[in-house]
Amino acid sequence: MTDPLATQALEPTLPRDSYVSPSAFETERERIFAREWVLVGREESIQAPGDYLDADVLGESVLVVRGDDGALRAFFNVCRHRGCALVLRDPGEETGDGVPVVGCKGGSIRCPYHSWVYGLDGSLKSAPYLEPALEGRKHEFSLHAAGLQIWGGFIFINLEPEAAKVRGHTLQTQFGEAMQRLRNYPLTDLRIAKRIIYQVAANWKVILENYNECYHCAGVHPELCKVVPAFRKNGGAALDWDDGVPHREGAVTFTFSGQTMRAPFPGLDDDEKIRHKGELIYPNFMISLSMDHVAAFTIFPRDAGHTTVVCDFLFHPSEIAKADFDPMDAVEFWDITNRQDWAIVEGVQRGMNSRRFTHGYYAPMESASLDIRKYISERMENGPAE
Ligand SMILES: [Fe+2]
Repeated sequence: MTDPLATQALEPTLPRDSYVSPSAFETERERIFAREWVLVGREESIQAPGDYLDADVLGESVLVVRGDDGALRAFFNVCRHRGCALVLRDPGEETGDGVPVVGCKGGSIRCPYHSWVYGLDGSLKSAPYLEPALEGRKHEFSLHAAGLQIWGGFIFINLEPEAAKVRGHTLQTQFGEAMQRLRNYPLTDLRIAKRIIYQVAANWKVILENYNECYHCAGVHPELCKVVPAFRKNGGAALDWDDGVPHREGAVTFTFSGQTMRAPFPGLDDDEKIRHKGELIYPNFMISLSMDHVAAFTIFPRDAGHTTVVCDFLFHPSEIAKADFDPMDAVEFWDITNRQDWAIVEGVQRGMNSRRFTHGYYAPMESASLDIRKYISERMENGPAE
């Protein structure tokens, strides 16, 4: 039956189940998060050999380890002997925030169960009392590797790297033209000056869709609209995100005043020195770029109704090194804006749970959110070709 409101002007959203159903979430885990390149953290967090981070990708624990040779590798957190997790979390520890727990002790990874020991390259080094049995066979017991690619200092992993290779699915194909649009920002050089972890009671797609539109900005973000009055106009329609959104006269960045003592990043063009850019890279990366700082959001879905959002605030090392460096003008501005967003997406999730909700509508100025309908539908219905 044709929905009378679903005209060109109002497109139906994904159905209710997509946002609230545990089985839809399980399918997303297999068809999206097991196949795509998933952002898990920053390279700078694991600088020395033996440093690692333990990433939680929808329940799949993956260790990203800095090797003796300086290279990063990703391994499933599973001993080849009996399957014990090599790195155990403390009970109650916050999961999935990508916070590194520094130190594979002594340059190796030791399983806490029977003390099988692996090198930082994932190769089995020793297994107590089994040397004769493993003679000439140790190479068969290396840790299972996950795919790993780095862009701009951001670490992405792939749980099914061979399948991704077969279908030619690289980080470049996943990013599309966004890499080109962000080419002037010195992202590899930037460093985290502040991290805030938010627990949000909303489906991960509600968070992405909210990031994709500014129809809500006038009502939800008064501080933001003071800095970018264009967000108020026509529901944020006609904003030029690709070339950057203009601030109000005299404002150049996302702080309460719109100004900053920090220098623009080296390498920016004249527009980028006064405009704001944003990109959403499916499935779990949102990045907002001002001339002096970057807010990078890593989205860790927990279940159909809960998501952890890790928000990293990145600055140039030459600014961080200054005696009077203080990131809080940007951090506090973002924190208020973020909390406004989380409160409203939690309201969306609550409403979507109603039996009367079947699906919503995308208004024309929310057209970018239509991308997620296409992205999700294509993968959930057929999955990418293998
Ligand atoms: Fe918002």
